[in-house]
Amino acid sequence: MLPVLRRYYPASYGAYHEPFVGSGAVFFDLLANGHLEGRPVMLSDDNADLIGCYARIADSLPAVITALECLAGGHARDGRAHYLQVRDTQFNPQRATWREAGGEVADYPPALAAMLVYLNRTGYNGLFRVNASGEYNVPPGRYERPRIVDHVLLAEVSAVLARPNVRVQRAAFDRVLADARAGDFVYFDPPYAPLSKTANFRGYTGRGFTDADQAHLQQVMIALSRRGVHVLLSNSTAASVARLYDGNAEVTNAGLRTWQIPARRAINSKAAGRGAVAELLVSNIGPTPSL
Ligand SMILES: C[S@@+](CC[C@H](N)C(=O)[O-])C[C@H]1O[C@@H](n2cnc3c(N)ncnc32)[C@H](O)[C@@H]1O
Repeated sequence: MLPVLRRYYPASYGAYHEPFVGSGAVFFDLLANGHLEGRPVMLSDDNADLIGCYARIADSLPAVITALECLAGGHARDGRAHYLQVRDTQFNPQRATWREAGGEVADYPPALAAMLVYLNRTGYNGLFRVNASGEYNVPPGRYERPRIVDHVLLAEVSAVLARPNVRVQRAAFDRVLADARAGDFVYFDPPYAPLSKTANFRGYTGRGFTDADQAHLQQVMIALSRRGVHVLLSNSTAASVARLYDGNAEVTNAGLRTWQIPARRAINSKAAGRGAVAELLVSNIGPTPSL
């Protein structure tokens, strides 16, 4: 979707905020194109493992790499068995200990950060999913030669996340209300409301992203737009979401418009569901003409 999303990047703005950062596709795109030089960048996500992992990659990279190399060695011997053994006898028990001790990002062990990278690189579809008890339960993926330790990439990401103008924190998305000022740019990519009951994937955090969360997000978009913040939201075209934005007077009066664009879903349990679907964009930034 980047070629489409780029058309909605504002020509000029203050700070950049990404409150559902995940793997940071838009953040890394802005970065790669030189848009973030010297400007404050606030990245956040409610997933404490993700933010803990980013924090250790930023401040303890050698320890993460040492553990990751050891995991890569084990994977080379028997990938599937090793994945399951790491997931069930190391990652989940050590996560449980960390969570029982408070689950603070500052205390996320480098060993867990390494395991998260390993499981993400070798697990099904690069997915992060937890069950109702909060245990990571992604099955093994089918990769011939997964690239588990990418030294160059890890070093680059570490350096970027450690920059003084970049802040990475664990927070619920509405934290952006306290941080964003007129002229800033906020990109929202929330967990997708399911298009059908069987397509219900919301397992990033164990709590799920409810219709009430979607309604709250709509109010956050409206408040920020009224404040003069540049906002861009991508979401599914599920009726429950579309009706929050399409034909809604409060949305229109706040200067927001909607667009439906074709997109492809990478994460879906059924391959058929990974084809072309429509995507909803909501923004107060007019798109630049396509080339
Ligand atoms: C669709 S993904 C974002 C993908 C991201 N754009 C990328 O490039 O990978 C949604 C993200 O929202 C996070 N999330 C779920 N509920 C949240 C909440 N209430 N507040 C903030 N983040 C949340 C999830 O952990 C997940 O990383």
